[in-house]
Amino acid sequence: MKLFCVGCGPGDPELLTVKAVNLIKGAEVIFAPTAREGKPSIALSVVEQYIDKSTKTASLIFPMVKDRESLKDYWQRNADEIASEVRSGKKVIYLTVGDPALYSTWIYIHRELKKRHPDIEIEVIPGVASIFAIANKAKISLAEGDEIIAVVPACYDLERVKKTAGACDTVVFLKDGRYFDNVIEMLGQAGFPDDAAIAIAQDVSAPEGEILELTNLAQQRGRKGPAEKYFSIMVAKKNAR
Ligand SMILES: C[S@@+](CC[C@H](N)C(=O)[O-])C[C@H]1O[C@@H](n2cnc3c(N)ncnc32)[C@H](O)[C@@H]1O
Repeated sequence: MKLFCVGCGPGDPELLTVKAVNLIKGAEVIFAPTAREGKPSIALSVVEQYIDKSTKTASLIFPMVKDRESLKDYWQRNADEIASEVRSGKKVIYLTVGDPALYSTWIYIHRELKKRHPDIEIEVIPGVASIFAIANKAKISLAEGDEIIAVVPACYDLERVKKTAGACDTVVFLKDGRYFDNVIEMLGQAGFPDDAAIAIAQDVSAPEGEILELTNLAQQRGRKGPAEKYFSIMVAKKNAR
């Protein structure tokens, strides 16, 4: 009894590992996360071309709320649903965008499986994380030499992030573009200079998903944040070089 969690990269179907493609092609059941009933799963759409017609696909709901208590029921139910398919002897995979170890729904599923179904073996297949996809699209490095990088969510306590930003050379912000205007203000307060490089992208691997903005901190002040709220990512580099 084994479950594979497969990272399917940042959105480009060619940015998957060979291992990921082989597992997807051979799967009998594929689970993937979505935010609400009826909303297509992004992860499933990325790998569509590799899914066999006979494969069963199912989206599992992970509502986009911050209250962990109200999410617990979803995590447990989703983990049980996956476990039941694994127990029936099928080849089952759980798909997630980017890498499963970075801000992924997989982390909650993994924890519940370990608690509730400890006899199920688990293997995780890494994927290309969005932080690398944006760096490559924007043609910037994330860190070199002795530089320090932080990867943070934009939608929680920015006072806490300010302390981190003050000690870092590069900060990557994930999760919610609505907060990017506040992030720009915070970066100035954290000591990022006006010429600090800022790259902002939405849906970084979509064919039309070019880098929206490749600017500096001063130019970015007062601009409107990305229109697409959720699938947005920002890199701020203190030393633009
Ligand atoms: C739940 S986290 C998942 C991160 C993912 N596990 C990874 O390794 O990139 C979702 C956030 O990742 C970022 N993200 C993931 N894929 C992206 C993409 N293709 N384009 C832009 N941002 C992306 C966005 O900030 C989004 O809100």
